[in-house]
Amino acid sequence: MPFSPEKFISEAISSIRATVGKSRAIIGVSGGVDSSVAAVLAARALGKNVNCVFVDTGLMRKDEAATVKSSLARAGVKVEVIGASKLFFYALRGIAEPEKKRKIIGERFIHVFEIEAKKEKASFLIQGTIAPDWIESGAGLRDTIKSHHNVGGLPKKMGMKLCEPLRELYKDEVRKVARALKLPAELSERQPFPGPGLAVRIMDEINEEKAETVREACAIVEEELELASREGKMERPWQYFAVLLPIKSVGVLGDKRAYGYTIAVRAVESIDGMTAKASRIPPDVLERISERITRELKEHVNRVVYDTTSKPPGTIEWE
Ligand code: XMP
Repeated sequence: MPFSPEKFISEAISSIRATVGKSRAIIGVSGGVDSSVAAVLAARALGKNVNCVFVDTGLMRKDEAATVKSSLARAGVKVEVIGASKLFFYALRGIAEPEKKRKIIGERFIHVFEIEAKKEKASFLIQGTIAPDWIESGAGLRDTIKSHHNVGGLPKKMGMKLCEPLRELYKDEVRKVARALKLPAELSERQPFPGPGLAVRIMDEINEEKAETVREACAIVEEELELASREGKMERPWQYFAVLLPIKSVGVLGDKRAYGYTIAVRAVESIDGMTAKASRIPPDVLERISERITRELKEHVNRVVYDTTSKPPGTIEWE
C-alpha cells in the first residue's frame, strides 16, 4: 500500500493524544525536518500542553537558533531557545572516540530536557526519531553502526516517558508528511543534520575554536552548492557539509610557511540515508569551495579534499 501522509497525520495526532493524555510534554527541535514535523504534530495534538525547546549546544549550524525560531513560527509553533553550549563543551573535553561523544551528547540533551520538564511539570519527552536512527543504533538484532544521540545516546534511567510519533518513517516519508502539513519549504526540503551536530564533523577532540571553523566551512559548502544548483550547474545534493580532519599539513600563507588543518567536503545522493553515493560536483564549483574555505578560514585551514566514498562502505557522516 502506498504511504499516505494525510492518513499518517491523523493517526499520529490521535496516537500522541492517547499516549500523553492529560499530562504535559516537551519536545526538542533541532531545525531539521524530523523534529519540525514531530513538533507540528505535537502542537496540533496537545495545544498548550506541549512546550517546544531548541537546545543550543554550541554545535549547531550557523545562525541556527534564529532560523529555527522564525521558520517554526511560520508553521505556528513557538520555540524556546535554551543556551547550553558551556555544558556541552565541558562534558566533551578530551573525548575523541565517536561513540563516547554520541553518548555524552545524548545524556546532556536529556539532562537539559529533564531540567526543562521539571520547570514545566512535563512527564513526556516527544522526539522526532525516525527508522534509520534506531536501525543504525543497533535495535537488539543488529550491529551498532553508530548510536544516534536520540536512541543509543539515551541514558538508562530517565525521569520522562518517551513518545516518538515518527519512529516507523523514513526520511522521504517524513518529507511527504512535512509537505502535507504545509511546512515552509525551508523546513520540508532542508537537508538532514545529525543530532550530535558538529561534534561528529570534528574528528578527534572538540573545542569552541574547531566548532567555529567547521561551522563556517559547512556554511560555505551549503552556500556554494545551493548557488550552483540554482544556477543549473548541478542538482542540489541530498546532503552536503564539511568535516574538520585532525590532519595538519604544510602550506604557504602570504610568503610564510603555514601548518594548518584539512577540511573534507562531503556531498551525497541518497533516498533515505541508508545508502548513498558521492555527488558529482563540477570542478569549478569544487575549486570555488576550496578557494573560499582556505581564504576565509586561512588562520586554521590550508587544505581541502573531496570525499568520494559511497555508503557502504563509508557512512555519510565521518563519525
Ligand atoms: P550516517 O552517517 O549514519 O547517517 O550514514 C545517516 C543519516 O543520519 C544522520 N545522522 C543522524 N541523525 N541523530 C540524527 O538525528 C544522529 O545521531 C545522527 N547521526 C547521523 C546523518 O547526517 C545522515 O543524514
